[in-house]
Amino acid sequence: MKIGILGTGDVGRALGNGFIALGHEVKMGSRDAQNERALAWASTSGINASTGTFADAAQFGDVVVLALLWAGAENAIKLAGPENFAGKVVIDAINPLLFEPGKGPALAIGHTDSAGEQVQRWLPAAHVVKAFNIVGHAHMFKPDFPCGPPDMFICGNDRAAKQTVTEILEDFGWPTIDIGGIEGSRLLEPMCVLWVGYAFRTGSGNHAFKLLRK
Ligand SMILES: NC(=O)c1ccc[n+]([C@@H]2O[C@H](COP(=O)([O-])OP(=O)(O)OC[C@H]3O[C@@H](n4cnc5c(N)ncnc54)[C@H](OP(=O)(O)O)[C@@H]3O)[C@@H](O)[C@H]2O)c1
Repeated sequence: MKIGILGTGDVGRALGNGFIALGHEVKMGSRDAQNERALAWASTSGINASTGTFADAAQFGDVVVLALLWAGAENAIKLAGPENFAGKVVIDAINPLLFEPGKGPALAIGHTDSAGEQVQRWLPAAHVVKAFNIVGHAHMFKPDFPCGPPDMFICGNDRAAKQTVTEILEDFGWPTIDIGGIEGSRLLEPMCVLWVGYAFRTGSGNHAFKLLRK
């Protein structure tokens, strides 16, 4: 599969590495086609890795991943060209986090709206699936925990798109829990605040969520 990744940060590179390890072709996009982090990533990632602008990555991907700073997400999507996402599965890993001095992490949008819903409104012809936002980048690919794999919660409006993302997650080593439509992002984005707050309290990023059933 061809994967376009919008984002050159820890998440873009962690997911890029995962897709490359699974044999997919990945183009990592940035505001600047010469972005140093993207070029450095591609130079060590083999022939299936390439770089370009946000628009290049969105055009390239059969599946497009959003790994963007929330404050820059609208701009990045405009630069990428919303038409380049039409009909595609879009994996939204964004968390709309605010870090204010002296305060813990908080959400810039929430309760009655969410980043996931806003992204779906910016990309009305795309099939947005919220995924990968509830865990740190170090555990996104093949999470290895002593009690077995954690669960990835996802949501989105399109059943086929969620099936595609569920299959990708299985290859990445994650069981998936589908919590419904994209408005479920109102629940998944606060889970990130819980994840980050716990990381700050413990000084560790080695935790993830699991739903226990009987
Ligand atoms: N870090 C984690 O472990 C983790 C885990 C789960 C979810 N998340 C979420 O995943 C997303 C990505 O996180 P990250 O830590 O990998 O990277 P990040 O630093 O939050 O975002 C990096 C990307 O945002 C783009 N960007 C920043 N300002 C922009 C602007 N004004 N206009 C357009 N694009 C802009 C950058 O573009 P350039 O390439 O041009 O610089 C870069 O590609 C965030 O929403 C984060 O909350 C993070």
